[in-house]
Amino acid sequence: MATKKTPAARAEELRSRLHHHDYCYYILNRPEISDAEYDRLFNQLRELEAAHPELIIPDSPTQRVGGAIAEGFASVQHRVPMLSLDNAYTAGEIREFEARLQRALPGEIFTYVCEPKVDGLGVALLYERGRLVRGATRGDGRLGEDITQNLKTVRTIPLRLRGPLADLDVLEVRGEVFMAHEAFQTLNRTLEAEGEEPFANPRNAAAGSLRQKDSGITAKRPLDIFIYAVTDAEPNPFTAHWDAMQALGKAGFKINPRSRRCADIQAAIAACAELEQDRMRLGYDADGVVVKVDSLDQERRLGSTTHHPRWAVAYKFPAQQATTVIRQILVNVGRTGALTPSALLDPVEIAGATISRATLHNADEIERLDVREGDTVIVERAGDVIPHILRVVTEKRPPDARPFVFPATCPVCGSAAFRPEGEVVSRCANSACPARLKEGLLHYGSRRAMDIEHLGEAVVEQLVDRELVRTFADLYGLGVTQLAELERLAEKSATNLHAAIQASKGRGLAPLLFALGIRYVGENVARILAAEFGSMERLSHATEEQLAAVHGIGPRIAASVALFFQQPENRRLIAALREAGVKMEDEASAGPKPLLGKTFVLTGALTQMSRDEAKAAIQRQGGRVTSSISKQTDYVVVGKDPGSKAEEAKRLGTPILDEAGFQALLRRA
Ligand code: IVH
Repeated sequence: MATKKTPAARAEELRSRLHHHDYCYYILNRPEISDAEYDRLFNQLRELEAAHPELIIPDSPTQRVGGAIAEGFASVQHRVPMLSLDNAYTAGEIREFEARLQRALPGEIFTYVCEPKVDGLGVALLYERGRLVRGATRGDGRLGEDITQNLKTVRTIPLRLRGPLADLDVLEVRGEVFMAHEAFQTLNRTLEAEGEEPFANPRNAAAGSLRQKDSGITAKRPLDIFIYAVTDAEPNPFTAHWDAMQALGKAGFKINPRSRRCADIQAAIAACAELEQDRMRLGYDADGVVVKVDSLDQERRLGSTTHHPRWAVAYKFPAQQATTVIRQILVNVGRTGALTPSALLDPVEIAGATISRATLHNADEIERLDVREGDTVIVERAGDVIPHILRVVTEKRPPDARPFVFPATCPVCGSAAFRPEGEVVSRCANSACPARLKEGLLHYGSRRAMDIEHLGEAVVEQLVDRELVRTFADLYGLGVTQLAELERLAEKSATNLHAAIQASKGRGLAPLLFALGIRYVGENVARILAAEFGSMERLSHATEEQLAAVHGIGPRIAASVALFFQQPENRRLIAALREAGVKMEDEASAGPKPLLGKTFVLTGALTQMSRDEAKAAIQRQGGRVTSSISKQTDYVVVGKDPGSKAEEAKRLGTPILDEAGFQALLRRA
């Protein structure tokens, strides 16, 4: 960036970059830069405008709270604007915060509450007489989006309050929706298994899940929330923020157990330091600590500027970044053929962990960052997630560093890589590619697929490298003697592996479909297809239209399945599997289908069978099980300690079956 730009030109450049990043962040939910980097640009603009007030224009990003409203959800005017927080980066700046309080309310004493600043999405929840009536996103701070249906799926959001707060005419609370690290990793593994793009970080995963048009998908996402404020209560029973939070906890809200009440600013600073120490152990992303004045009377009298409240400040943790050098850029090939680049780094310590590898996501990301082998880069570690590269320190670039050329061919098998239009990922097109085959075999044998015990990485590696296995079907031709010749496989294990391979022939159609690794066909989709078509033969002849007509099968899945069966090598594979004796019929599809077209929702515990067994029994007879009640629901099966679904069914007039009624229906059917 040229240094000698006029202030006006520099301001315009910053504005347009910030507008762009607002759009990526707020509208697309796909930030291209870290929050720290965004804050840096924003502060530059704020400083520039402070020095040259004539440059401030009404649409400067500094003149509003956030971005625009996305299409699709009804817009909601916030009763109280959702402002952002002023930042502090040092203990000194936290003390300055108190000095500002003292100037505003001379002679008064302040006590504080310190809470983790969870890095998720702010939402407003409105309760009327103890019932959740509306939930909205922050939006631009004044207008948010009505995502009530989606928020209702978040387990930690109470739909109905307990105790005295349930009697309030109005109660509006604010909280942060987020995804914990463990849940995030599990979700990404599932998405990858289903051929979907994984999320880059927990915040994106939470954002993408909350803004789903289909709340059924949101319901499957492990979202969580911490409530951090009461913004309205009629009548208002609260005098201190801390007490209000404790009362919310009793009313059924999830409040943060790491919050601390602090008698003075020194204690607040200590609480910030303690949370900073623990940040990697919280289990979710937190980017700072919010220090709030405890007295709600003082809070009211302090009020807010147009940008942020005067009664709170966000102490931001120092970025978890380090500078290091890229030794090599590697491109790996996954089961779906996806070519994924990563950077091998000179090992460097960030927040107590040694980092030697960073993800580069895809070719676009490499181009955007313009990373090259030999470059000095700034690496950031966010939570438990794989570290990523923030930017290149171009001043330190070796003169001979060359732009990285993303391979046009697969680095393992050398065949052409292709990048479908509109996608960011390049893929190896060769379904027999050894790298794809290895990953594919591991998936084929995994527990939820064909469940072949002992088919681990070391075995797969050798089977492919020795060219004993070129397709899944070759597994079934392997003899015990052949297996026993593999390194590190004793005779006994060879016998066991052989038996496990043979046993997998009988798993049935649904596990087989999942095992084949057809794009977008996860476990659930495989089950739907198996139940609907009953045999590989029928499924393979289904047209794209017939596939798309099946409930639960969208156009993208339909196209992918149809394409799979059109490809000659896949047809050959299926024929070879059949030849080897692999069962290609759906167990469940044998027999009559009296529940065909009926949709069930299960809630509460059954005594005679587990929920999975109940689900399987319904599916065997042609019925479907969904997770949320809608107009399409035919029956709600209510067991012991049912959730709110039982009430919802009553309200909607959906027929309710108790366990005995359900058993009777299954028998009759
Ligand atoms: S209090 C009037 N407390 O941070 C402002 N905010 O930058 C009230 N956040 O939009 C904010 N944890 O989404 C508050 N314990 C906490 C928070 C928190 C996360 C988010 C919130 C807000 C943003 C402000």
